[in-house]
Amino acid sequence: MSTFDPGFLWGAATSSYQIEGAVAEDGRGPSIWDTFAGTPGAVRDGDTGAVAADHYHRFPGDIALMAELGLRAYRFSLAWPRIQPTGSGPVNQRGLDFYRRLTDTLLDHGIEPWPTLYHWDLPQPLEDGGGWPVRDTAERFAEYAALTYAALGDRITHWTTLNEPWCSAFLGYATGRHAPGRREPAAAVRAAHHLLLGHGLAAEALRGEARVGLTLNLTHVTPLHAEPADLDAARRVDGMQNRLFLDPLLRATYPDDVLDDLHEVTAFEHIHDGDLKRIGAPPDYLGINYYAPLLVAAGSTPTRSAYVGSPLVRIADGGRPRTAMGWEIDERGLLDLLLRLKNDYPAIPLYITENGAAFDDVVQHDGVHDTDRIAYLDGHLRSCAQAISRGVPLRGYFVWSLLDNFEWSFGYAPRFGIVHVDYATQRRTPKDSARWYAEVIRRGSL
Ligand code: FCB
Repeated sequence: MSTFDPGFLWGAATSSYQIEGAVAEDGRGPSIWDTFAGTPGAVRDGDTGAVAADHYHRFPGDIALMAELGLRAYRFSLAWPRIQPTGSGPVNQRGLDFYRRLTDTLLDHGIEPWPTLYHWDLPQPLEDGGGWPVRDTAERFAEYAALTYAALGDRITHWTTLNEPWCSAFLGYATGRHAPGRREPAAAVRAAHHLLLGHGLAAEALRGEARVGLTLNLTHVTPLHAEPADLDAARRVDGMQNRLFLDPLLRATYPDDVLDDLHEVTAFEHIHDGDLKRIGAPPDYLGINYYAPLLVAAGSTPTRSAYVGSPLVRIADGGRPRTAMGWEIDERGLLDLLLRLKNDYPAIPLYITENGAAFDDVVQHDGVHDTDRIAYLDGHLRSCAQAISRGVPLRGYFVWSLLDNFEWSFGYAPRFGIVHVDYATQRRTPKDSARWYAEVIRRGSL
């Protein structure tokens, strides 16, 4: 039996653009995701976050449901364009008030609010000024963090600056699969640095009583064959996906081999003296989003991908069952990742801030019997328990996601929620996985 410490933090996660809707209400300005989703062909079926799960209006009911499930913490994100509609200048009081009501209601229900300051909805005017490839965006982000902290700091203990800067940088600016949809590899590398710098500057602005961390999407990378070309491909993917972020944050340095790989792409003039010191003031905790491992091989024809600077890498098929996203299911990858963090980096508290799966749920007259999702969560939680028993300082777990929601360029087709959302009526129905998770939390064991 896998048993968790009574202090282990059990939660669920969402993000603003994926669930809130109400994109033009109470003074919210447009974000890059409003613009991108409005671009023909960018998002499957032309879906947008305009209504989403209507959480902006339905949050009291959603929080009552969280309480019923026994969640101890709720990870959500603050929409920067609600709080600062143009990304700079004065705060929009009505936007802040929404998050005041949300956090108060959570606290009234004994649920710890775990906000993320940036889950990809950059105010459009900042993108018009150059976006994350421009240094000024990092400074604007720190200013937004400070304003938000001044308004909500009395009720929040854990602040997460960024969600998955890898996606913001490389899907947003290299592949163009995410907003703002640019395909400029050099700009993507600059964006990665300015996101990290934004984290560092924001952390300086937030520190006081608060604990400040950030969330990375990390994975376990293995070569297809133990031969030089595949080993090098795996090193490159691990470098871009994991070490390009972990090393500056936890060792205040960029990995030399990754800088070498990127030399063809950029001369690194955007890295200023002192930046790495600010980025590498160690976070108080690290959030990890884990979905699937990556099996990597050398490619034979150059391709443009998120792995900027490495055109000859390809993701191989590990032959495992897959989720509805096509992501391979392998909970062993999570254990390996956690053990690797313990071995290679200084010990800081870790939280799984996202883990979960989309499956083709079937709504039946008596509910949604998502046994595949339960199996996925059970396997990954077992990996968490094993990691803890082997000394990994893992302190909590947030399932992705509380609700079915807008899955970025895939629109509403993939369903990640433990609670089903009928988008026509906005009716919420806890799936079997939600009842199962509630029971795991109640017992503190699997
Ligand atoms: C992560 C994102 C989250 C969600 C999941 C499935 O990359 O942080 O918003 O889309 O993937």
